[in-house]
Amino acid sequence: MKIDGSTFIITGGAGGIGSAAGRSLVAAGASVALFDVVPEEVGNSAAKSVSPEGRAIYFRVDITDSDAVKAAVESTVEKLGNLKGCVHCAGVAIKRPWTNDVAESIPNFKKMLDINVLGTFTVNAHVADAINKPLNHPNGGEEHGPFWTTNEERGVIINFASAAANPYARVLSYGPTKTAVVGITKSMSDFLGPSGIRVVSISPSIVVSAMTANFSTYFSDDLLKHATFPRVPLTADQITPTIHYIIENVGVNGIDIPVDGGWRLVSSKAGLAGGEDPRSLAPGLE
Ligand SMILES: NC(=O)c1ccc[n+]([C@@H]2O[C@H](COP(=O)([O-])OP(=O)(O)OC[C@H]3O[C@@H](n4cnc5c(N)ncnc54)[C@H](O)[C@@H]3O)[C@@H](O)[C@H]2O)c1
Repeated sequence: MKIDGSTFIITGGAGGIGSAAGRSLVAAGASVALFDVVPEEVGNSAAKSVSPEGRAIYFRVDITDSDAVKAAVESTVEKLGNLKGCVHCAGVAIKRPWTNDVAESIPNFKKMLDINVLGTFTVNAHVADAINKPLNHPNGGEEHGPFWTTNEERGVIINFASAAANPYARVLSYGPTKTAVVGITKSMSDFLGPSGIRVVSISPSIVVSAMTANFSTYFSDDLLKHATFPRVPLTADQITPTIHYIIENVGVNGIDIPVDGGWRLVSSKAGLAGGEDPRSLAPGLE
């Protein structure tokens, strides 16, 4: 897929990875619509910084609200045209101090399921439908039957999972929501393949952003010990080349791409024989 001249929706577009993605895609000739929940003035100024020349617009939209996502996707098509996909960065990592009661995690887990899992399905679905809409044959008038079947490349959807999607990452509830993102990516790529839309996820390790600004040192210590290279958190600008790679390479589909410095996630200090208790090392590990 060519970036130049295409339009992409970037969810979480006011955040760290989302705004870096916006800047790099605009620099390569794309137009972008940033979807986020931050107030209008914050979102508009994020759009201005992504593209001072006006090739970025902001929509305040909660990705768990299907009707709102559908309306914002339609407005994107109306205002910018030529929608070719999305970079879905919106997500949350909710932390709480550890206690003995696992049940205290349930409300946070439910919220992360809503945003990280349902939100991913909702964004993928509405973006795919909007890409296919002008090309659909709802009455089954096509020779291939009632569903669209094409060999042309129509779009590409990029989701953000995480190194924490690894079941051994010792992340109680954020982790499984990101495992689900990898699952949605694979099932969406199967389902959307016949309509020429690819779906791929990226799993970064630790990236410097608002999400990790107040992070415990637990993960960065582990990264320092167990990444291969580099053994430090990445910047959002170090994630964007993988976004370009996925968009521009038609053969890349239905996979999760780690961008994690070869981090092995062995969590040396916690849980292993003689190791310290992870709950005392990492309040808010979930
Ligand atoms: N930063 C990291 O270390 C890291 C590592 C692995 C994966 N990730 C994933 O990468 C993605 C981007 O993370 P980031 O580091 O840029 O975080 P960030 O916190 O800087 O950005 C996330 C953005 O999502 C927005 N958002 C939250 N809930 C929303 C909702 N319901 N509707 C619309 N927007 C919503 C937030 O307002 C924020 O601007 C996330 O999915 C995150 O889980 C991040």
